[in-house]
Amino acid sequence: MNLLFLAAMSAFAERNKTLILFRPVEDENSIIECLHKTTVAYLDIIMSRLDKLTSFLVMDIVRQARALPDAIHFEIGEPDIAPSPHVLEAIAEATRKAQVQYTESLGLLALREKIAAFYQERYGVSVSPQRIALTVGTSGAFLITYAALLNAGERLLLTDPSYPCYKNFAYVLDAQPVFVPIDASTRYQLTVEQAQWAVREHPGIKALQISSPANPIGNLYDADNLRDLMAFCEQQEMYFISDEIYHGLVYDRPAHTALEYSDRAIVINSFSKYFCLPGLRLGWVILPEDLMRKAEMLLQNLYIAAPTLSQYGALAAFDEAHLQQVTATYRARRDYLYEALSQLFTIDAKPEGAFYIWADISRYAEDSQAFAQRLLQETHVATTPGIDFGQHQAHRYLRFAYTRELPHLQQGVARLQAYLKPSRRFALRGLSR
Ligand SMILES: Cc1ncc(COP(=O)(O)O)c(C=O)c1O
Repeated sequence: MNLLFLAAMSAFAERNKTLILFRPVEDENSIIECLHKTTVAYLDIIMSRLDKLTSFLVMDIVRQARALPDAIHFEIGEPDIAPSPHVLEAIAEATRKAQVQYTESLGLLALREKIAAFYQERYGVSVSPQRIALTVGTSGAFLITYAALLNAGERLLLTDPSYPCYKNFAYVLDAQPVFVPIDASTRYQLTVEQAQWAVREHPGIKALQISSPANPIGNLYDADNLRDLMAFCEQQEMYFISDEIYHGLVYDRPAHTALEYSDRAIVINSFSKYFCLPGLRLGWVILPEDLMRKAEMLLQNLYIAAPTLSQYGALAAFDEAHLQQVTATYRARRDYLYEALSQLFTIDAKPEGAFYIWADISRYAEDSQAFAQRLLQETHVATTPGIDFGQHQAHRYLRFAYTRELPHLQQGVARLQAYLKPSRRFALRGLSR
């Protein structure tokens, strides 16, 4: 009997105080596919929002790795570089002046103007500060955006793999994520053909979300593909949401903001990665004009305004010399680690941005989660299992983050080389799913 189905039926019975009798059938296999489809439908009906949330496996790995004094950290997706000293001075100054009142809900106008100027300088795009809302990280921006766009039951197109919180925000709002599997055949980019398929199979998709460069792959969308996807969304009257949190951390060719192609695009970004300020909890969303009032109402109700001291600090974050240094540092690490890990694993998409490498470990093991545990226990090298980011081929991949200095990465690679020497491969392959 399909275990998931059994679990779903039991939960249904318990919730409805009903007794369900199971009668054995002769040809169990013949009904498996039917059961599977029914299961998915049942799970959707009976699971509560919170039942659907997934937790971050990587957080367990982070906890275990922290208990190991000599651990090598490839698991952490947070910048390790100090922010611009001007930001820290600006926060100190705001603290001295006790600037701790709420700001207006959309955020300090001066900061929204700086962000608008950044889009003009960087991308040649003119954005009115009135279309920019400051949020509690991009996380706050997803909440505001999805709440503004999606009613309960409405659909959001996401890629598999993708950053796991997208789907969890959708679940919290009782919206329905629709996953499109992506892989090396399209260099991990969603294509118009795939989006067309999703729209045919799941009518009524209200919005499509991508990230570029993406977590966990580090791949960058081609300008043409971005333009075509947005044209498709406009034609389908779907919203296009672009998570651009890793913009600035791009190493081979420029990144294009979705705003270059349409001012209907919804662009989300934050100070957490490129600006090296994850703890400020400050991000922004740029919305089409007609959604601003809704977003403002949501902001007022959900968290009044983004943190004030953070906003004053961020006024000093557009420090070009510092930002160039950040990009150069991560580029050098990407170059080293991509080369080194390519000798050990199959890397089917060279990362062009962010600070991640998506490595296929299937020559050693069938289950990357068990493999990650074994690496951690036997070599004290911490990585993130692919399963954190989706279902599609995820059991074959590990995500490596290069958010530590080069000597640390080099030490990690040396441990992996010693551990994965050819004589051991046979034993490791025993790690099955
Ligand atoms: C793709 C992506 N989007 C959003 C976030 C969340 O960032 P923030 O700190 O701005 O909430 C992360 C964090 O790792 C991420 O990888």
